[in-house]
This record gives sequence, structure tokens and C-alpha cells, in this order.
Amino acid sequence: KRVLSVASECVPLLKTGGLADVVGALPGALAGQGWEMRVLMPAYRALRPRLAEWPVVFVEEDLFGGPGRVCAGEVEGVSMLLLDAPHLFDREGGPYNTAGGDWPDNPQRFAALSWVAAKIARHGLGDGWRPQILHAHDWQAGFAPAYLAFGGPRDVGTVITIHNIAFQGWAEATMVEALRLPAHEFHPAALEYYGGLSSLKAAMVTADRITTVSPSYAAELMRPEFGMGLQGLIAARAADVVGILNGVDEGVWAPEAEPLPFGPRKMKGKAANRAALCAEFGLEVPGPLAVVVSRLTDQKGMDLLPQVLPDFIAAGGGLVLLGSGDKALEAEMLRLVERYPGRVAVRIGYDEALSHRIFAGGDAVLVPSRFEPCGLTQMYGLRYGTIPVVAAVGGLADTVITANPAALAAGVATGVTFHPTDAIAFAEALRRLVQLHSDRTVWTQLQKRAMAQPVGWGASAAAYARLYDSLLPA
Ligand code: ADP
Ligand code: GLC
Repeated sequence: KRVLSVASECVPLLKTGGLADVVGALPGALAGQGWEMRVLMPAYRALRPRLAEWPVVFVEEDLFGGPGRVCAGEVEGVSMLLLDAPHLFDREGGPYNTAGGDWPDNPQRFAALSWVAAKIARHGLGDGWRPQILHAHDWQAGFAPAYLAFGGPRDVGTVITIHNIAFQGWAEATMVEALRLPAHEFHPAALEYYGGLSSLKAAMVTADRITTVSPSYAAELMRPEFGMGLQGLIAARAADVVGILNGVDEGVWAPEAEPLPFGPRKMKGKAANRAALCAEFGLEVPGPLAVVVSRLTDQKGMDLLPQVLPDFIAAGGGLVLLGSGDKALEAEMLRLVERYPGRVAVRIGYDEALSHRIFAGGDAVLVPSRFEPCGLTQMYGLRYGTIPVVAAVGGLADTVITANPAALAAGVATGVTFHPTDAIAFAEALRRLVQLHSDRTVWTQLQKRAMAQPVGWGASAAAYARLYDSLLPA
């Protein structure tokens, strides 16, 4: 059985967030379920050198202003299809933006990706491969199910997965024809979105199924606080909506495989990681060492840290933060270091290896998100016995069981959750963390329980496979 996955990023080729982790992990996870998945993504400048030795499996002469071709190759066991269209993707800068802001031709760039996906779904590749299911991820692939739906009768099932509804793929109404969309579909029940176009909405109207990355986020999306304008549409399609929790790659996030290995029965190794992390950053922390690895954006709630840290530090806590994003937030995080020398360390940037040392060495990982479709770092925390302290939203609520007295007594607690996402509730959660950490028996039990919680892809891969199966012709 064959499925084409379409996305704008994929580990290990390009990553700006959890989307890439998930897109990169799905093929391996689904192979075990009898589904062969190929991943179509753009050949950005840094990826083009790989194409020299890859066969061309698809050609399109006129792809929104220039020629496009698809080359097929394997990267770390994943079958990749790279869309080479130099006029759209061979440029200096990020995948979505450059120093000056979003690429102005983003609608065309990702319409091109989607156009090619739909054509492959309909006609197959030069090597004869044709998918039975097209699985689109986020707004960048949003027009793929739409092109397929508007192009006449089809025998390929379509799925759109919403990883983050905050990004909706907006374009001007005047672009309908330039984006090769049928003008007669420009009305509120189809393509029109608040006077313009949204590639995400286009997918949500036309795909056979809508999935998102946790059951709680699926429910939240139907409410105005989280739906960001699309709540009505999601609610109207509730029968076709399903939340499937992301997993983590247990080969990559494996405490036993860290340079200073540890595990549920080898927690001395965890202490060694903590000591090494403190030494690396010149920290001395008597209480819980909290860690953060995150994009610094409004979504992630990091602006609350300056408000909650004074009490936490006074109670013996410390913090190591690795992140990048919003410049004002970066500066605000760096100011914390000056305020709490020896207790707070901040590294601005993106660093995979350091992120491993941080999860291995921390006592607790903080995820105070305002909304969180799934979230991966709380699951790395579980795996590494680094107790998650999280806002009870979306996937965070679905993956952490808060250590209230009843849950502790029942032996099921794995972390601390708080609600709403504000400084008062967050500060209270940190007080709770300090208290739990101070009781050795309780803390050890919490760590063991966290590390025992399954966070791999098993159950979720099976759920995707069932979903695909349900879309196969009878
Ligand atoms: P989102 O996709 O919303 O950013 P997720 O929790 O789903 O949030 O995924 C974020 C991913 O990016 C995780 O794998 C996390 O470890 C990683 N990450 C985020 N910031 C950094 C950073 N500065 N350095 C290394 N890894 C990071
Ligand atoms: C998005 C969400 C995040 C999720 C990731 C992968 O980036 O913000 O919560 O884990 O996609 O699905």
C-alpha cells in the first residue's frame, strides 16, 4: 500500500520545528504497518547538491513561472522526492522567509509543491509509482487535496494534517486564477476565506479527512479561543476530524544512548548528566534545575518566565534555556542571565547536540504554551526522567498526568500541569515542582513513572494506518 506525504520540511533534510520531526518519522513508523510512504518536499538551495545523482521521476514545464522536476532518492532510509524548481526554491534565506519577512511569492511557491503532489497522485511518477493516499501537512501542502478534488473524478484518498492552525496560508483573492484554482469555487463554502484565500482552509474543505496532532487539540480547534477563524469549519466537519498524537523517535531520544548513558534503573547516570550540564554553564543549583528548548514565540509563553523566576530562584531553582525566535524575547531571556548569575543560563541559537545534553541533565522541562497542538519536548522530558511542567492545553494535556495527591497515591503521575497559561498558575506549578523535588521518594517515583510512559510511534502509526485503510476503495 502506498502513500504520498507532502510537506515543506522533513528531518534530516530541513527543520524549523516539530513538523519536520513528525514528517521524518512517519515513513519508518508506517512501514511497520504495511504502508510505503514517500515524502515530497522542495529542493531548497542547501539540498540541491544531492540531486546530481538522483534520477528525475517527474517533469513539469510550466510550474508557476519556470520549469520544475522531481528527483527521487533515499535519505537515512526514507524515500524522498525533492521538487527542484530553482525559480521558487533556489535562494538564500529560510524556507518561508528571509531577513525582510515572508517570501512575497509564498503562495506560488507552495501552490507549486501542492500542484506537483496532486499530479503525482493522479498520474504517478516516471518509475511507475502512484500513491493510493495523498497525505498533506499544514498550509504549505494545503492546495494539494484541493487541486485533486477540483480536477475531476479521483481514486486517491486525501488527508490534511493540521500541525498548527495559527499558520493558514493566506493569499489575496485576486490570485485565484494565478494559483490555478477554479474561480467558481471562490465562495464561503469553498475557497473564500474572509475575503481572501487560505490554503489551509482549501484543504479542510476538500480533503476526505482532517487530522490534527493530539485529541485535545482536535476538540480545542472547534472553539473560537483556539480555532483562529476556522472553528466553524472544523466543527461542521467533526465527523471527519481525528486527533492522533505525535510520537517521538525513540532511536534518537534514547537516554541509554547518550554520551553519559542512563535509564530507569541507572539514575546515577542522570546525576552525572546534571553535573556536566551545570559545569558546562557554570551553574550551582540546590533545587530543581529547570530546562527549556523552544522556539521563542508568543505561542510558547516564554514571556512569563521573568515573572515566575524570582520566586523559583529564591526557592533554590535554576534554569537552562536554549531557543531562538522573536528578537525582543531573545533579549529578555538574556537579561535573566544578568539578573541570576550562577542560576540561569541562556543560549540563543539552534543546537541539536546541546538540546540532548539539556534534556539529559535537567530535572524538569518547562512548556508554558498558550496553545500547543502536540508538543514534542515534554515527551523528550518523559523519556529522560526530566519532569514536564506544562500548561494543560492541546497535546501537553494529553501526555502529562499531573502530580496531585490522588495521582501520586495511585502511582500514575508523570509531571505537573497548570491552567490557565498565566504567571499565577505557572508560579503555583513551580512551587509544586520544588515541593515534589524536595521529597526524594516522591521524586524518584515520579521519574520512574515518567520514563515508563510510552511516547513512541506504535499506537499512533496504527491509527494513521487505520485512517488510510478506511479511505481505500472497497
Ligand atoms: P514546535 O514545532 O511548535 O516548535 P515541538 O515541540 O513540536 O514545537 O517541536 C520543536 C522541536 O524543535 C523539538 O524537536 C525541539 O527539541 C526542537 N527545538 C526547538 N528549538 C530548538 C533549539 N533552539 N535547538 C535545538 N532544538 C530545538
Ligand atoms: C507544530 C506544533 C507542535 C507540534 C508540531 C508537530 O509545530 O506547534 O505542537 O508538536 O507541529 O506536529
